[in-house]
Amino acid sequence: MDLLILLMLCCCLAYFLIQIIRFIKADADLTLLWAERFGHSPESKFRGSVVWVTGASSGIGEALCYQLAKLGARLVLTSRREAELQRVKKKCIEISGLENNDVLVVPFDLTNISAHKAATDKVVEHFGRIDVLVNNSGRSQRSLCLDTDLDVFRELMEINYFGTISLTKHVLPHMIQKKKGKIVTISSVTGFVGVPLSSGYAASKHAVQGFFNSLRIELGCYPGITVSNICPGPVQSNIVENAFAEHANQKVGATADQSYKMPAERCARLILVTAANDLNETWISDHPYLLICYFWQYAPTWAWWITGKIGQKRIQNFKSGMDADSSYFSKKTS
Ligand SMILES: NC(=O)c1ccc[n+]([C@@H]2O[C@H](COP(=O)([O-])OP(=O)(O)OC[C@H]3O[C@@H](n4cnc5c(N)ncnc54)[C@H](OP(=O)(O)O)[C@@H]3O)[C@@H](O)[C@H]2O)c1
Ligand SMILES: *[C@@H]1O[C@H](CO)[C@@H](O)[C@H](O)[C@H]1NC(C)=O
Ligand SMILES: *[C@@H]1O[C@H](CO)[C@@H](O)[C@H](O)[C@H]1NC(C)=O
Ligand SMILES: *[C@@H]1O[C@H](CO)[C@@H](O)[C@H](O)[C@H]1NC(C)=O
Repeated sequence: MDLLILLMLCCCLAYFLIQIIRFIKADADLTLLWAERFGHSPESKFRGSVVWVTGASSGIGEALCYQLAKLGARLVLTSRREAELQRVKKKCIEISGLENNDVLVVPFDLTNISAHKAATDKVVEHFGRIDVLVNNSGRSQRSLCLDTDLDVFRELMEINYFGTISLTKHVLPHMIQKKKGKIVTISSVTGFVGVPLSSGYAASKHAVQGFFNSLRIELGCYPGITVSNICPGPVQSNIVENAFAEHANQKVGATADQSYKMPAERCARLILVTAANDLNETWISDHPYLLICYFWQYAPTWAWWITGKIGQKRIQNFKSGMDADSSYFSKKTS
């Protein structure tokens, strides 16, 4: 009997040890990493699919397009800068077996709601359907609330939130007609964690999470249509450079330190694994942000204490003109 208990204790200990090692090595939540190893591979899911990627001209969206092209997906590329989209299209065709007709460039400003219907019609006319909408366009913020114009908060909502609802409402009827489709939204860790210097950005991403978590339940009667919210932590891209500062017509501009961020290619791969496995919510981030996500979800009192400490340091860095995070997690020694 005693031996049995001892054996059980050893098994429990071994289990926890394995989980702790998995966690230390993790660059995403453990459910997503499990799916990456044992779930459906993106290779088996996207060949021939029609995937619409917004924010395709840069960063995470651009990396996603190249991986989807290699998987044999047909693509719709959207953002404001047509020349940049043509550059991405050209490279998509170069690196894959896709032909000119398989990649459609549909440039428009996502805050221009009146452009959404025509754009959706154009896509449906060209491809006959939309299998996956990857809602990725977005803009961030680096400024203290008190110094920031109300217009910036409005713009962040327009770009990151209202556009989302609008395009989703245009695309959904086509998916419902086919009883099939995936809506994949690139939210952020700030979709559920508070971050100083990004109060308006965090609010817009919290709004996105609330919207899609509710919509998913409403779509319960269409089991073929799935909603995935993806929450990346820091990823290498132009997001900080493009971020809003105090005024709506102002960009941060300076290229920030990227050394501590995850490469966009890795983030894109994990986005595809999320979509291939229809996971409802995933977190894609290295530590220590991943650890903070777990605290925020399961032990908020600790999370508030830790983010309070780190946050004060971020604000100090920002006020002294440095990149908010660099001295904290930079891998370069400066
Ligand atoms: N990088 C990170 O650390 C990080 C972390 C968490 C979440 N995210 C999220 O990931 C998504 C992609 O960001 P990223 O890091 O790849 O940034 P990025 O390099 O700045 O790319 C942003 C993309 O959005 C497009 N865009 C911006 N405003 C637009 C508008 N009004 N209309 C149409 N397109 C617009 C841009 O294209 P045009 O300029 O051509 O319009 C660009 O293709 C965003 O939703 C962001 O919030 C990023
Ligand atoms: C908004 O989209 C409409 C329809 O495509 C277009 O006619 C109009 O010029 C756009 N407005 C802006 C400000 O880009
Ligand atoms: C989703 O797409 C809409 C319109 O296409 C855009 O306005 C919005 O910024 C996107 N949302 C996110 C969270 O990427
Ligand atoms: C995802 O959400 C739907 C709707 O709320 C739910 O029915 C389903 O079980 C969830 N999937 C997972 C893997 O938790």
